[in-house]
Amino acid sequence: MASFPKITALFLLAIAMMLGASNAQLSATFYSKTCPNVSNIITSVLKTAQGNDIWIFPKLIRLHFHDCFVNGCDASLLLNGTNTEKTETPNLSTDGYGVIDDIKTALEKACPRVVSCADILALAAQLSVSLSGGPKWTVPLGRRDSTAPHKEKIGNIPSGHESLATIKSLFKSFGFDSTDLVALSGVHTFGRAQCAAFTDRLYNFNNTGKPDPILNATYLTSLKSQCPQGGNPTSLINIDEQTPFTFDNKYFLNLQQRRGLLQTDQELFSTPGADTIALVNKFASSQSQFFSSFSKAMIKMGNLNPLTGTNGEIRLDCKKIN
Ligand code: HEM
Ligand SMILES: *[C@@H]1O[C@H](CO)[C@@H](O)[C@H](O)[C@H]1NC(C)=O
Ligand SMILES: *[C@@H]1O[C@H](CO)[C@@H](O)[C@H](O)[C@H]1NC(C)=O
Ligand SMILES: *[C@@H]1O[C@H](CO)[C@@H](O)[C@H](O)[C@H]1NC(C)=O
Ligand SMILES: *[C@@H]1O[C@H](CO)[C@@H](O)[C@H](O)[C@H]1NC(C)=O
Ligand SMILES: *[C@@H]1O[C@H](CO)[C@@H](O)[C@H](O)[C@H]1NC(C)=O
Repeated sequence: MASFPKITALFLLAIAMMLGASNAQLSATFYSKTCPNVSNIITSVLKTAQGNDIWIFPKLIRLHFHDCFVNGCDASLLLNGTNTEKTETPNLSTDGYGVIDDIKTALEKACPRVVSCADILALAAQLSVSLSGGPKWTVPLGRRDSTAPHKEKIGNIPSGHESLATIKSLFKSFGFDSTDLVALSGVHTFGRAQCAAFTDRLYNFNNTGKPDPILNATYLTSLKSQCPQGGNPTSLINIDEQTPFTFDNKYFLNLQQRRGLLQTDQELFSTPGADTIALVNKFASSQSQFFSSFSKAMIKMGNLNPLTGTNGEIRLDCKKIN
């Protein structure tokens, strides 16, 4: 009888170890001895980069998202070549790769062969948010880089035309609940989208020959003038019309006014009976609750299937396998 509690304790310890195993190796202090200045170095490259490209911050956080949703946060997205995620999907219009290279160059000078490209993406994403007025969070580190691209998983990146049910099940498959989904969608409070990502909503929604009936009428007029029929499908339009450079909670106020740019954005608020409606309202009325849920969800996203220990490598050039 006396041994029962002991066995139970051992059993619970084993369970705890198994549960923790998936991201136990990532740690906020991973580079504290090997590259203590990593965050300052990245910040300094980012500030220079912003002088050359005012849109660089949204571009960089999007890279981390696309990296993590395609087979985990392993920098597979960054690989150059003919059979890679980068070249196979021109319509995803990701950008900012040159700045990742600049960061890598600066870090190779300061601490050679130490900081992975996957960690650069995670840190650049966090700093891009805080430098745009958004929250700061502590980024768990210690990811290593893939030794192959994962083009076959590129279908994990949604187009913006999915139903809410489809988006919810995609996010659920990665362990995200509705709070995580709504908080992460709030990242569309800055940055731009191509006309091609939403013109169907302006002219021929769901093959009806009419606009999406949910669109705010004055917003529809404005979008039609920015994306005329027969115009350039790659023209870039601010996702948050009013504060496109600022990481704030305006995105949720836009949804309440039916001014969500992507179909998937507006569905969070306009799908009858959806549990996401209350979350949109909560984040619209409290920026601090948005910031705290967003930070939590970003840490969760950064923990998706990292390579650690002896898996993967520390790439010397983020575009190439060593
Ligand atoms: C709910 C699922 C999501 C969908 C359907 C979606 C879809 C899109 C689409 C279609 C665009 C416009 C791309 C273009 O036309 O060039 C876009 C832009 C963007 N997305 Fe998402 N996205 C989602 C979630 C996320 C997440 C989780 C992040 C990051 C954490 C993110 C970050 C961004 C950023 C920052 C931009 C603007 C990029 C720029 O200005 O260069 N998105 N998204
Ligand atoms: C850390 O990096 C910053 C920005 O590049 C630089 O100004 C500073 O001198 C560095 N500090 C150390 C101790 O290397
Ligand atoms: C990687 O691709 C970019 C864009 O396609 C190109 O500019 C660059 O020269 C390539 N770099 C290498 C090392 O192949
Ligand atoms: C699109 O049209 C189909 C068929 O008419 C309908 O079942 C579906 O609900 C519509 N989707 C949206 C988002 O309106
Ligand atoms: C890519 O975008 C262009 C318009 O910009 C469109 O004609 C083409 O069908 C798109 N391709 C895919 C695979 O979505
Ligand atoms: C449409 O947007 C305007 C702001 O330009 C807002 O005052 C109005 O309430 C919105 N309409 C709806 C139906 O939400």
